[in-house]
Amino acid sequence: MTTHKALKQWVDETVALCQPDRVVWCDGSEQEYQTMLRQLVQSGTAQWLDQAMRPNSIFVRSDPADVARVEEFTFICSKDKEDAGPTNNWRDPDEMKGKLRKLFAGSMKGRTLYVIPYSMGPIGSPIARIGVEITDSPYVVANMHIMARVGRPVLDALGADGGFVRGLHSVGAPLEANAADSPWPCNASTKYITHFPETREVWSYGSGYGGNALLGKKCHALRIASVEARDEGWLAEHMLILGITDPSGRTIYVAAAFPSACGKTNLAMLTPTLPGWTIETVGDDIAWMKFGADGRLYAINPEAGFFGVAPGTSTQTNPNAMRTVASNSIFTNCAITPGSDVWWEEMSQPPAELTDWLRRPWTPTSGRKAAHPNARFTAPARQCPVISREWENPKGVPISAILFGGRRASVVPLVNEALSWRHGTFLGSIMSSETTAAAAGAVGTLRYDPFAMLPFCGYHMGDYFGHWLAMGAKADAAKLPRIFYVNWFRKGADGKFLWPGYGENSRVLKWVFERVSGGGAAVETPIGRLPAPGALDLAGLKIGEPQMAELLRVDTEGWLAEMPGMRKHFDRFGARLPQGLRDELAALEKRLQGAGVAAGR
Ligand code: GTP
Ligand code: SPV
Ligand code: MN
Repeated sequence: MTTHKALKQWVDETVALCQPDRVVWCDGSEQEYQTMLRQLVQSGTAQWLDQAMRPNSIFVRSDPADVARVEEFTFICSKDKEDAGPTNNWRDPDEMKGKLRKLFAGSMKGRTLYVIPYSMGPIGSPIARIGVEITDSPYVVANMHIMARVGRPVLDALGADGGFVRGLHSVGAPLEANAADSPWPCNASTKYITHFPETREVWSYGSGYGGNALLGKKCHALRIASVEARDEGWLAEHMLILGITDPSGRTIYVAAAFPSACGKTNLAMLTPTLPGWTIETVGDDIAWMKFGADGRLYAINPEAGFFGVAPGTSTQTNPNAMRTVASNSIFTNCAITPGSDVWWEEMSQPPAELTDWLRRPWTPTSGRKAAHPNARFTAPARQCPVISREWENPKGVPISAILFGGRRASVVPLVNEALSWRHGTFLGSIMSSETTAAAAGAVGTLRYDPFAMLPFCGYHMGDYFGHWLAMGAKADAAKLPRIFYVNWFRKGADGKFLWPGYGENSRVLKWVFERVSGGGAAVETPIGRLPAPGALDLAGLKIGEPQMAELLRVDTEGWLAEMPGMRKHFDRFGARLPQGLRDELAALEKRLQGAGVAAGR
């Protein structure tokens, strides 16, 4: 167990409140992992996949009422409502805890309470942080084994009085004596994903899925950590981290913020189509970044695994992901083949018959999807064939460029370099993207998602913008990462993506590499710097000139038409919107109007 009195006391109090039948302190061992898998299979939550095809891997179906993050029921419970800001749901912390205590009371009856000590980041890294998740879900335990460093070594690092984030999780489905369990226990009607930033606590009730339940990920590493980062002068971001090496062997590191299901995992492990270039993965979802003694910004991946979107993943689009999930993985809400392997849309030619994620027979003519659009794989990062040698470096990797991007069918060009850190912060603040199946609710609705942090910022988004500006202002400008805005999702008149994406995104990364290395020709436009004609390496790419022109077109009218919406977006933040961003908006409008006049409009 532990010599940590405060931890023991918290566990004791939680046991008294939740009334589990058993308490297990997770040691993080391989044996413990195997016990969890066996238990999931025995209870009907999971089934083994064919051990020859996919060794040591299981398939899980969730309840159809529990398939994604629930933003509607996610709360930031800061003492002052203002601190949660206009983009978060807020409740008074005492009121919320009162409500939750009632829900958690007896919520683990008939179940086992697991105590999972975890480290976000390599144990001992100066950037890493410790949390403890208490959960009644063996599925969560198994996933946490992959997604974080868990167990004994973490307790050792925590010592007798180390600080830690407290995460309390229950699926909210107590089991009465002699009652049959459901394969995916959850609370279909009541879910609360709540955060108490001042006391560094997470209380999550009613869901067993993904970011709702694996509390180290979005709840700790983004919502709570963003508050710590604000207070302590660092950055906790929804960003992948990759290394890119040119044919001469020089490597730079890039971080990129795209909203959920907008291409982070794919970019993080892409296979470049450009000969001689290589990409290495450091992380695929979250980056914690701090300035080093040399004045550069260093990033670590706080996670140890990937919780990746399955549909769309194939040996064509993301061969490295396919190899990563070849074994030792957990698959949730995919379809299953008669031979007990998983399948999802676009993985391969659809098999003649399948059982879909809802246990229904499925054929290619069924006219519906076989896998849930938010079906996911959980796989150890170390299994990624292109995992970076530096991925567990406790110091992190120095970041040379930061990309922002989202799903934009129009207006936003393929790539655009910010004019300065402040302008880059502005571009992050006006990011917008179509919603995806990663969160419950409508898909394809355009919304502002600043920095891809809309669902993940644990405090007032206006203050968050201010924090970004302040971080830049105190740094040596020459050592700051350069900022770019990319869009793989612009569509042509035919409604099809103009850009082939995936491995071809290496062409954009090459230009970014060249820009931060002092090369790469650019043209100055009202929205920023775009590749000069011929500067983007298109050798060997079959793409029409009109398509390429459209991808790089600065749609002056389109940008001007978005000004009122941007202003309204900014107005939400009231007095907490930094003046610097208002100035950037005005300057952009002026440049666009100038361009409109020059073009004779
Ligand atoms: P989260 O794990 O939810 O944070 O998602 P993510 O940002 O890691 O997105 P991911 O890489 O898993 O991609 C989500 C979906 O977008 C998948 O279905 C991909 O196939 C698709 N996608 C990724 N990159 C590209 C691209 O360059 N072009 C196109 N057209 N689709 C892409
Ligand atoms: C996201 O939605 O951004 C994810 C999946 O990475 S989840 O872990 O469910 O948040
Ligand atoms: Mn994500």
